[in-house]
Amino acid sequence: MQHLVDTNNFSDQQIQNLLYDAKTFKAKRPPQLLCDKLLITLFFEASTRTRSSFEVAAKRLGASVVHLDPSRSSTKKGESLEDTFANLCAMEPDGVIIRHSDNEAPQLLANMQMTPVINAGAGNYAHPTQALLDLFTLVEHFDGDIKGKTIAIVGDIVSSRVATSGIRLFRRMGMNVLLVAPKPFMPKSDLPQYENLEDVVDKVDVIMSLRAQLERHASPLFDDYEEYAKHYCIDHKRLGERDVLVLHPGPVMRNIDISDEMLEDKRCKVLNQVKNGVYMRMAILKLLLLDS
Ligand code: CP
Repeated sequence: MQHLVDTNNFSDQQIQNLLYDAKTFKAKRPPQLLCDKLLITLFFEASTRTRSSFEVAAKRLGASVVHLDPSRSSTKKGESLEDTFANLCAMEPDGVIIRHSDNEAPQLLANMQMTPVINAGAGNYAHPTQALLDLFTLVEHFDGDIKGKTIAIVGDIVSSRVATSGIRLFRRMGMNVLLVAPKPFMPKSDLPQYENLEDVVDKVDVIMSLRAQLERHASPLFDDYEEYAKHYCIDHKRLGERDVLVLHPGPVMRNIDISDEMLEDKRCKVLNQVKNGVYMRMAILKLLLLDS
């Protein structure tokens, strides 16, 4: 039984297969490969993109999807995560997709070996499907040639599971990763660190902007995010005509993370990421439910 807790669960060959399948599915609507499969989603944190993307991906492949809303589940009566999961598994799903604030939650459930577990975001530890869809977007844009390309990750890196998973995967794929953040948002890392965006704009092929994750800050780290935006917002003034791809996992805080005008710029691939997320998640579901 294979799980996806983070991308290190997949071999290099499996990642290449995912990229191939995602590209194939994008080029031509695939057959109903998963028509006899049923998935359960269990999102203990809010989501727009990931939850709906998984549902669309599953349904495009013919699978059924059942959502359990933890805010209306017996979690509210004190049932543990493990017991909730075991009870769902007694209904014989073909996989459970989980988002949780606890870094360890997906691994804990995967260790129970009851059904494939897919991590849809855990604390600040990992968001592997986001990293894989971002990789797909980069491979597509650079026509497969991402080795040696440089990506700057900008913003609230310390709170970001997108950054954690992305850094692991991009480095594994041979990319150079730079971190750009004010001190309170900078994690401990052996990667090159910068406080000023201006110091990196001429060195990078890609900028990945991240949202300030206010819900993960025990107390506000900044009094004023407009002041933060003056230094870190990705806008035309800062980027000029440079040939730099702009990514963001969403949700975007407009004019704090990325300016309105830059969101309309052809260099900005935010909605391409969302579109590619469906194809990559189709590929992931195929791998976990059929190929392994
Ligand atoms: N990128 C991402 O995880 O978005 P959601 O929180 O809306 O799922």
